[in-house]
Amino acid sequence: MYNIILAKSALELIPEEIKNKIKKSRVYKYGILDSNYHYKAMKYLKDREMRGRPDIIHISLLNILDSPINHEKKLNIYIHTYDDKVLKINQKTRLPRNYFRFLGVMEKVLKGEKNPLIKMEEKTLEDLLNEINAKKIALMTKKGRLTNPKYLKEFDTFIIGGFPYGKLNINKEKVSGEVEELSIYDKGLMAWTVCGIICYSLSF
Ligand SMILES: C[S@@+](CC[C@H](N)C(=O)[O-])C[C@H]1O[C@@H](n2cnc3c(N)ncnc32)[C@H](O)[C@@H]1O
Repeated sequence: MYNIILAKSALELIPEEIKNKIKKSRVYKYGILDSNYHYKAMKYLKDREMRGRPDIIHISLLNILDSPINHEKKLNIYIHTYDDKVLKINQKTRLPRNYFRFLGVMEKVLKGEKNPLIKMEEKTLEDLLNEINAKKIALMTKKGRLTNPKYLKEFDTFIIGGFPYGKLNINKEKVSGEVEELSIYDKGLMAWTVCGIICYSLSF
């Protein structure tokens, strides 16, 4: 069994501190932060360049869920968010293809509404790694050791940053497994491309 984790993901409810700066819109009526619609209000938000990109999670999940390794039920899928929530996505989830319908589902889950296929709990990335007993952890980053994807099978857990810019920091001392920084290409790639490459390398 492999674990795939999108970490520090840019998927969160609109933070309280900017709620009063956001005008109601007929196009976007969701309670999820999206920099395309909330760009001005996010101006003074901490770490704003790495937040408000739920589309990254949507496209990555569509890629992961339809990969052969997932169809073979050999993948545990987790979304760890910027504000330390963890969503465990059931392998059989049929995610809405439509972005706004995806936001509707995620808003309910993040607000604590029960969903039979997506479970939400509050926890840090380090706690998640220990809880799932991750042993050989590949922390994906373009600055890591350049590795041919065919060797990814040597790892049991993959962490990909679910955000557009910035660096993923992990407190290795708090993690019982062995963490190695890996790169699969010498240039930066989008999270959904990295998820696709990982899933397809594990599949064949
Ligand atoms: C859009 S990037 C985040 C931006 C950051 N500047 C970067 O390139 O790492 C999203 C995630 O994709 C993964 N990633 C991007 N390029 C990669 C590469 N060449 N090798 C391995 N992982 C990569 C990393 O996990 C990264 O956090």
